[in-house]
Amino acid sequence: MQPNSTLDTARRHLSRIDPAALTHARDRLAESGIARLGFLLPHRVKRMLAAEALTLVDHHRQWDESRENAEGGEPAARQRIDIGSQEVRGGAQAIPLLYDCEPLRHMLSVVADESVLPHPVARRYGVSRRHHSDDPGRWHWDDYAFAFILVVECPPLQDGGFVQTVAHTRRDWDHSDIYRTLTRNPIRSWELNPGDLYLIRADTTLHRVHPFAHGRRTILSMAFASRADIEREQSSSTRRCGFTQRASGYDEYDTVIT
Ligand SMILES: [Fe+2]
Repeated sequence: MQPNSTLDTARRHLSRIDPAALTHARDRLAESGIARLGFLLPHRVKRMLAAEALTLVDHHRQWDESRENAEGGEPAARQRIDIGSQEVRGGAQAIPLLYDCEPLRHMLSVVADESVLPHPVARRYGVSRRHHSDDPGRWHWDDYAFAFILVVECPPLQDGGFVQTVAHTRRDWDHSDIYRTLTRNPIRSWELNPGDLYLIRADTTLHRVHPFAHGRRTILSMAFASRADIEREQSSSTRRCGFTQRASGYDEYDTVIT
């Protein structure tokens, strides 16, 4: 399927979404900070997005391997792969088209019960792969309000293939209060399978990928902002003119691993 026909297929599907399904998802997001949205895109669109994600990962690995061969060293152990927006834009077509699809953002806004806006900085989408032997995912909040995730590959539940969330929590920018948040709030766990789509309120839902015993997890993630994020970004830009920057205690990839 061509990228533009993928977009057309998605648009047609989005125009026929059952309002009751959206209402149900909105209630789940408000209650749990996470909502399953598998109904939002048809299978063949999800397959196209997954195929692009896997192609990007393969190209990324081949490039790394050829560089290692050229440098003549021992091949490095398999490590986590994070592919950012620029590389995705260079190697995929359907993913950027879907990100900019206005009807999709509209549906996400209905589920979020507020405006879901394009990410104000370059890291709008990414593809990441974690192996069981990589460092496990840390508990974290994202910098921006919404993460829309397509699970491309995921270990089965018995191997630890799930994510965990703590809803309605307050983000501390330096992540110094995570253990207190974990001990004072209920933790929920969500089994995931390849092909699942979900939206997470990532700035007020503490979350992590549970460590898994075997296999690998590959996801396509799209980050979106709330109006409050945009306003914060604008005021932060103003402050930066006065040489003040907000400290961020974790690396940029944390925003996309779940
Ligand atoms: Fe995250």
